[in-house]
Amino acid sequence: MARTALVTGGSRGIGAAISKALREAGYTVAATYAGNDEAAAKFTEETGIKTYKWNVADYDESKSGIERVEADLGPIDIVVANAGITRDAPFHKMSPQQWKEVIDTNLTGVFNTIHPVWPGMRERGFGRVVVISSVNGQKGQFAQANYAATKAGDLGIVRSLAQEGAAKGITVNAVCPGYIATEMVMAVPEKVREAIIGMIPAGRLGEPEEIARCVGFLVSDDASFINGSTISANGGQFFS
Ligand code: CAA
Repeated sequence: MARTALVTGGSRGIGAAISKALREAGYTVAATYAGNDEAAAKFTEETGIKTYKWNVADYDESKSGIERVEADLGPIDIVVANAGITRDAPFHKMSPQQWKEVIDTNLTGVFNTIHPVWPGMRERGFGRVVVISSVNGQKGQFAQANYAATKAGDLGIVRSLAQEGAAKGITVNAVCPGYIATEMVMAVPEKVREAIIGMIPAGRLGEPEEIARCVGFLVSDDASFINGSTISANGGQFFS
């Protein structure tokens, strides 16, 4: 039977490319989204991938959402914690609200996504978890103290859970995308974006599919001994 994969934030941007790549690789895929019903309906119509609406920042919503997915599609074997937001501001202008929203979604949201599926993975002796972090979690970024803190924190979660899950057949890895051509990056002012592209040795933004292929590898049987690792896919912008 095909393995079941859950991709949070899986109907747009990098998440949509991941959902599609996993489906093409033969997995049964559920994609979550937070608010845009229209985009999610269009995504399902175009791809046949089922979408589920919940806020990853809310533990109870995540837990009951995951129960719905498992009732529909069977136990979740693969989790890709991809959902994330930005609330960029220089630190002296960053509000407590901007700090909290990003922490709740990008950091606590990863806990909320993995925690409900973890006991089942342990019981079944198999699991693949991939967390989408960021180059900016590795190096920090102007106006992203909140975002960089969460993405660095995500790597801490990955490296801890890799140690906890290993004996139970679960691998937990991270992908750190660089600047990828998505709505999130296109929202950066053009002048700033051009300056950032100038700092990428590849001289271009990445494509969502270039991240999806990393995830496809990490969840496959070929990656069975890779655990607690980070794949950086950033066009040479940063080495860690
Ligand atoms: N490095 C150095 N200086 C920078 C800078 C940078 N990366 N970005 C902006 N600045 C400077 C500006 O040139 C400007 O300088 P001056 O005051 O001398 O003109 C100053 O910072 C901006 O100050 P403002 O008070 O005008 O800032 P603002 O309140 O209008 O905020 C901003 C503007 C939010 C910082 C905007 O410039 C921005 O969005 N920057 C990009 C931040 C970024 O890279 N975000 C990544 C989003 S994509 C993502 O997160 C995905 C991923 O994982 C890679």
